[in-house]
Amino acid sequence: MKVGILTAGGDCPGLNAAIRGVGKTLLLKYNAEVYGMSSGFLGLIENDYKRLEENDLSNILTLGGTILGTSREKPFKKAKNYLEEIDKPQVIKENYQALGLDCLVCIGGNGTLKTAYRLSQEGLNIIGIPKTIDNDVYGTDYTFGFHSAVNIATEAIDRLHTTANAHRRVMLIELMGHNAGWLTLFAGIAGGGDVILIPELEYDLDNIADYLNERITKNKKSSIVVVAEGLKRDKGKSAARYLVKKLSDKINQELRETILGYIQRGGTPSPQDRILATRYGAYAAYLIAGGNYNNMVALRNDKIVAVPLSETAGKLKLVPQDHPMIERAKALGTCFG
Ligand code: F6P
Repeated sequence: MKVGILTAGGDCPGLNAAIRGVGKTLLLKYNAEVYGMSSGFLGLIENDYKRLEENDLSNILTLGGTILGTSREKPFKKAKNYLEEIDKPQVIKENYQALGLDCLVCIGGNGTLKTAYRLSQEGLNIIGIPKTIDNDVYGTDYTFGFHSAVNIATEAIDRLHTTANAHRRVMLIELMGHNAGWLTLFAGIAGGGDVILIPELEYDLDNIADYLNERITKNKKSSIVVVAEGLKRDKGKSAARYLVKKLSDKINQELRETILGYIQRGGTPSPQDRILATRYGAYAAYLIAGGNYNNMVALRNDKIVAVPLSETAGKLKLVPQDHPMIERAKALGTCFG
């Protein structure tokens, strides 16, 4: 049995734990040959790959990034000019067949899983493993990478509390998440954010200003606003900068913004993500050994299950407006806009 592995899309903590989980299980339990494709789907287009032995998969559990590299290469995207006009899906198919692969493991987020599904429709055997700090992959309770990012963002918010108190300021922190507010919701609640703003919920600037001014009259020293980068607003500025601009005349305290950025995606995975990525990887190998292709491994009620790629590909998992965590946080006074 020959299996290729690739990591595609934005990186996140836990990619190496997943590569190790699937790779070691394939090598040690199922006696397979394992190949690591370089830089996502680019590796398959350019025939850039490396055979992985057990030692290649040792000492990587705690490592951030990905030993395979990643890229945002989208082989099904229409070429911008005639120079790029090669039939990338066809090239991928030919290289997959030439290498004699029985299956390709695609570790990625929504874009990757959609590409993976389309490749399965072209006749490739695929297994998907969901990763992203955004936690917005449909069909799974959690993607790996998410909990690490929640930890990093929560620590950042904790640190903002002390400096905000010292200066009696309103601190805004912008977290990643273009479409989905999961990271902002979880880190906002864990970090005791006073205002939490996510793309899924409408907000009113005057309402936010009234809420923050009322905190000042209640003699609260400071306030923390946690905002997702994808908050709906005029295009151009970052969400946090936009809010500072719109709110500064309305609030009787100084405002400052922090954009946490790529720190949220870097570094060692949390224990929770190491465990989830390992479970996903081992289960992916088990599915491959049984010939159960064209599935994504997923977490449902703390069980690892297989979900057909056809059911998940192309769908986003957004925060429901009536999510119980929003209801509970509102009950204890958090403002959602
Ligand atoms: O990994 C997901 C994500 O972090 C989004 O939240 C973010 O907007 C995006 O990736 C940015 O990544 P890049 O600059 O690598 O495209």
